[in-house]
Amino acid sequence: MRILYQLRRKLLPRYRTLRVTNMLKKQKFKDMVVVELGSNTCKNAVTWMYNLPIKKAYLVDLFNNYITFEGKMDNYGDGNIRFAKAVKRMKKFGDKAKVIKADAIKVAESIPDNLDYVRIDINPTYDLTLKALETWFPKLKIGGYISGHGFRSTNIEETRAVLNFIDNHQDSLSFSGRCNEYWIKKEK
Ligand SMILES: C[S@@+](CC[C@H](N)C(=O)[O-])C[C@H]1O[C@@H](n2cnc3c(N)ncnc32)[C@H](O)[C@@H]1O
Repeated sequence: MRILYQLRRKLLPRYRTLRVTNMLKKQKFKDMVVVELGSNTCKNAVTWMYNLPIKKAYLVDLFNNYITFEGKMDNYGDGNIRFAKAVKRMKKFGDKAKVIKADAIKVAESIPDNLDYVRIDINPTYDLTLKALETWFPKLKIGGYISGHGFRSTNIEETRAVLNFIDNHQDSLSFSGRCNEYWIKKEK
């Protein structure tokens, strides 16, 4: 069973990030420096490590309970247990992966600029999504990408934030996506 799980992670990107991971695989990135905001127990991050040429991955999560965009307490469970699971899961990648317990916005100043890729998978409220895009887009290198997977009519707050961000920065980015996944490329 465990072997099957590891094989699946090695061969197949997670369904939720399938399209963007496949898109990134086709680019000519080398020694990627990447960030996931809302990495939780790092299931997605493991897929990256097996599928992308990663030099360093910063995996950020609050690991704390909070009120979700639907106005309910999140159901991710005990933050300490999730943090321990994330650290254990990423241990085999050594210095290439760093799990960080922090807020997605506040942590930005402690992570280097010139990033290849940032994935946003945090509480998808309008304010937080827009703030995350405004904070992290400038930290990308030219040609780098920022992405998310909540671009759909049932997730109106995240979708509105993404559209407003694109509108405000039209001349420095290009926008693409498939199904619920969107990705924004920094063009200048
Ligand atoms: C949908 S889960 C992430 C799933 C994970 N990316 C994966 O693919 O397995 C959302 C995560 O975002 C985290 N989160 C929510 N708001 C956050 C914030 N402001 N800063 C950092 N993490 C946050 C939550 O703790 C939760 O673990």
